[in-house]
Amino acid sequence: MSSGAESDGSAEEVMTGQAPVIRVLTLFPDMVRAVLATSIPGRAERQGQVRYEVTDIRDFAVDKHRTVDDTAYGGGAGMIMMAPPVVEAVEAVRRREDATVILTTPQGETFSEDLTLELLADLQAKGELILVCGRYKGIDERARELVVTREVSIGDYVLSGGELPALVVVDAIVRRLPGVLHDEDSAANDSFTTDRDGGLDCAWYTKPPEFRGLTVPEVLMSGHHANIEQWRRRQAVERTRQRRPDLAAGRDGKTKLSD
Ligand code: ADE
Repeated sequence: MSSGAESDGSAEEVMTGQAPVIRVLTLFPDMVRAVLATSIPGRAERQGQVRYEVTDIRDFAVDKHRTVDDTAYGGGAGMIMMAPPVVEAVEAVRRREDATVILTTPQGETFSEDLTLELLADLQAKGELILVCGRYKGIDERARELVVTREVSIGDYVLSGGELPALVVVDAIVRRLPGVLHDEDSAANDSFTTDRDGGLDCAWYTKPPEFRGLTVPEVLMSGHHANIEQWRRRQAVERTRQRRPDLAAGRDGKTKLSD
């Protein structure tokens, strides 16, 4: 990670000169860096498929107390993130005038597999994607107007801040960059993918063959690949019907998932 995370010196590590860069602007840079250095997002950077730049918005505060928030004009509880540090931080890190700048906020469009693929394409086309983590009650509307191009929510609940949502968005995107996932963590038939017709994944089993009296479905032990594939597909369809009838109907409203 260019701002803080250390090289692990592994053989995986390569030059990252041309890798697209995801810039995260936050008031909690240590929290963001820790997650981005871990697991698949961390491996993606070490392998050179992406770079992360984490910027502390407080470094762009305009007063000596490094103030980044204040009370709302017109009154009301809660602190508002001030426009100047947010706008100046974005302008300082942004390399392209047309870069997509995402604000994570409960008021944004709901994050999804479709949006993941759209943002992945955007990152690959422009080589840059910027996420601003909202905090407190919200950010000054003028910061949105001046630098934010897109607003994303990860669901209808309110978190303490936009860091976890930003990390959700980054994780979902980078695992889809070519070469990031290896066979053992393939995304091909994950829930919501085209392989699953946008529905849920099936049930999976591993060793031991029996645990506390519970066995593995016989077909999975049969070695008959066509039967196994059919069982998994039917299982996924049934699971989707039961748990997510909204997905079973198909995202375009047409009936999908026929077995
Ligand atoms: N900030 C607080 N809650 C959020 C949510 N659900 N999605 C995105 N940003 C948020």
